[in-house]
Amino acid sequence: MPNIYDIFKKDPNLHAQKYEHYFAVYEKYLARFVNKPVNVLEIGVDRGGGLKMWQQYFGPKAKIFGIDILPSCAKFTKGNVKVFIGSQADREFLRELIKKLPKIDVVIDDGSHVAKHIITAFEEIYPHISDNGVYIVEDLHTSYWPKMFWSRKRRNNFGRVFFYRGRLYLNGFAEYAGRLIHQLNSYHRDPKSYKWFLIPRAQRKAAVPADDLAKNTRGIYFHDCMAVFERGKMPEPLRLYK
Ligand SMILES: C[S@@+](CC[C@H](N)C(=O)[O-])C[C@H]1O[C@@H](n2cnc3c(N)ncnc32)[C@H](O)[C@@H]1O
Repeated sequence: MPNIYDIFKKDPNLHAQKYEHYFAVYEKYLARFVNKPVNVLEIGVDRGGGLKMWQQYFGPKAKIFGIDILPSCAKFTKGNVKVFIGSQADREFLRELIKKLPKIDVVIDDGSHVAKHIITAFEEIYPHISDNGVYIVEDLHTSYWPKMFWSRKRRNNFGRVFFYRGRLYLNGFAEYAGRLIHQLNSYHRDPKSYKWFLIPRAQRKAAVPADDLAKNTRGIYFHDCMAVFERGKMPEPLRLYK
């Protein structure tokens, strides 16, 4: 079984920047895809180190796709790696891309790190990933960066960035993802659900209303600087009482 931290450390030609604790998070959620015919999408390609790492980790049956706004990243298209040039903030680009790609199992968002862009990509891509797919958003610490950390180059690349009292965190992706807990719990939003869930599913007169996120998400997990969404069918709850 390959170890992703070893892959990152040992290959001198793999150029990427990662927090050390990310590797344990990758293993926790992604190990089940290793050596399987998995389709991976990385948002943010830069020097191609991430693509190389996923290629080595997931093995020869994997297909690795990348998105970047920099046309120079197209050079990483080779073998089982294909890079598309466009912005994660561009809904039309993402919609067209989803139509072209096979069902994606793993998404790693390591792109612009601008909350608005991360949310756009999540809204467009997450509903289309495979039933047991995983969507990881990295580098949430950037939401807490003061303005001075956002270099002119970054600001130019990423467009307008909104600051609230000098910081971004109130508009950050962590805030957005945290609020999704209410969608995840949406089966329970109607006060009647308290009684419905005591009735065996087959005997309920109608489906209990819930958001798509609740019906298709096994869990939302937070780690330092990371949010992880695990897809999976979530049937209407059944309350067991004995
Ligand atoms: C942190 S780097 C990616 C590093 C890469 N994932 C790795 O591990 O080697 C961020 C990349 O996101 C790209 N980027 C910035 N804004 C973007 C956007 N709106 N859409 C897609 N990519 C973007 C940048 O051009 C840059 O190459």
